[in-house]
Amino acid sequence: MKKLIVGNWKMNGSTEMASQLVSGIAAGKIDNADVCVCPPYVFLCGIAAAAKQAGIAIGAQDCAYYPKSGAYTGDISASMVKDIGCRYVILGHSERRQYHAESNEVVKNKALRVHEEGLIAVICVGETDAEREAGEHISVVIMQLMESIPETASGANLVIAYEPVWAIGTGKTATEEDVAEMHGIIRRFVNEKLDNPEQVRILYGGSVKPENAASLLAVPHVDGALVGGASLKADQFLAIIAGAA
Ligand code: 13P
Repeated sequence: MKKLIVGNWKMNGSTEMASQLVSGIAAGKIDNADVCVCPPYVFLCGIAAAAKQAGIAIGAQDCAYYPKSGAYTGDISASMVKDIGCRYVILGHSERRQYHAESNEVVKNKALRVHEEGLIAVICVGETDAEREAGEHISVVIMQLMESIPETASGANLVIAYEPVWAIGTGKTATEEDVAEMHGIIRRFVNEKLDNPEQVRILYGGSVKPENAASLLAVPHVDGALVGGASLKADQFLAIIAGAA
């Protein structure tokens, strides 16, 4: 299976920047990896057609806890992001867990909504600095996996992203040994618990850059990358995609 490179733009961009970034990626993209961009909701419609034409999937950075539609001011449902062409929905990012107090239970329910729509949930897990210092990183991640992944998950509708919180936006990358250890553990979990486990891609995220992409993507059981800062510049994102060759 091809590696999957996902750009999580977080709360960045403008109409103009979004369209330029997608054309820049489209112009330089090689076909060695599956590629997805996840801009803020408000820019999704504006880039959907260009992304589709270029073979770039689009994804949302979150979705509502609630089904389809209703009196939920400010929320965007999984069925709405499906309607505008999204294939992926990132869930349980550490910034959602931290700033919106999202628990594993909330993440699991959102993943159910995503699966109801036939979309792919990109469920994020990862330990904090303090948890790693205390030697709890493995148990924390296993607990997140057990409690965040719904029974509806299978190889057809799940991507897992391992993002150690201390590596996000800090320029600190996990060592290849750390990544290999955690990805091996996540791979075993997936193989034991899910149908069609070989189709579940396990992404690494946290300060992925052009300089470290190829070596991180070569670590066993790393099936792609979830990229933050470096996904906001077409040349950097393209270099990371090239690193998946
Ligand atoms: P950075 O690549 O900016 O460290 O962000 C990683 C991330 O959080 C992607 O979801």
